[in-house]
Amino acid sequence: MSDLNIDGFFSLQGKVALVTGGSRGLGLHAATAFLLAGAKTVFISARKAAGEQGIDQAVVRLNALPNISGKAVGIPANVAEVKGIQRLVDDITAREGRLDILVANAGATWGGPFEPTPDWSSQKVLDLNVRGVFNLARLFTPLLSASGTAKDPSRIVVVSSTAATNVHHVGEHGTIMYSASKAAANHLARNLAVELGPRNITTNTVSPGFFPSKLANGLIENLGGQEQLEKENPRGRLGQSSDIAGIMIYLCSRAGNYVNGEHIAVDGGARLGAGRLTRL
Ligand SMILES: NC(=O)c1ccc[n+]([C@@H]2O[C@H](COP(=O)([O-])OP(=O)(O)OC[C@H]3O[C@@H](n4cnc5c(N)ncnc54)[C@H](OP(=O)(O)O)[C@@H]3O)[C@@H](O)[C@H]2O)c1
Repeated sequence: MSDLNIDGFFSLQGKVALVTGGSRGLGLHAATAFLLAGAKTVFISARKAAGEQGIDQAVVRLNALPNISGKAVGIPANVAEVKGIQRLVDDITAREGRLDILVANAGATWGGPFEPTPDWSSQKVLDLNVRGVFNLARLFTPLLSASGTAKDPSRIVVVSSTAATNVHHVGEHGTIMYSASKAAANHLARNLAVELGPRNITTNTVSPGFFPSKLANGLIENLGGQEQLEKENPRGRLGQSSDIAGIMIYLCSRAGNYVNGEHIAVDGGARLGAGRLTRL
């Protein structure tokens, strides 16, 4: 018999988490999963507080989840800018004094033909998807490191994309810089895994395939629509909230304790048929 004890293996009881871009889409799925798994406080951040897609409505919905013991708290911040990230650090320090889980999920894309690409679009994508992730990790390291232990490290999860390894879109709706930014995010995360592992922080990357969302819906249409992409997916469907929940809870709970520097695709295997996904 082994010494294995898997009681509470997937529990996030007592944990404090921050999910950037938590007001909708994949970030909202992750925040929901953390609360359902027992987290004490889940901070969500995005730029907009008010409105149909703002943080405030998401906080109300999260706090209305049945059978949760924790709470959601919204903090508006632009995480493409150091001053926005510093405000988040200060606010979370003042409210909780700790952080166990950082999900760098907020992301931007831009699509269009290659030669006329406006330079501001590349800057916007790189500032959020690469510089922003680097600065989030850098500025939150003191809090994460103070909360992590050798037995139970703090966690950074970077939300990347299968576009980091595949070429989904070129031509009229090309997203070349998005793709490059996600490849950079993957390698940034590997570097963080080695830099921060000794400080009791693990870093891993989750690469979603297509999940319907504000960011993805236009891209899905450009590739032929949901039905077409479902046909091309080995699992016969696009991603769902439970798919994000599963990987986030695994990586952030005791079950994922020793996983560090990994890059996990959550796409039903669609990336392996890459040639069929490229539209020239
Ligand atoms: N959905 C997919 O199929 C898919 C596939 C692969 C990868 N991903 C990745 O998954 C992540 C989430 O995408 P999603 O599909 O859930 O997108 P989404 O529905 O458009 O949500 C994006 C979130 O990020 C926030 N955000 C955007 N810019 C921000 C900034 N500068 N500072 C702070 N927050 C910001 C948005 O709120 P505000 O606009 O109010 O700031 C929103 O909460 C992204 O990194 C994306 O690249 C998504």
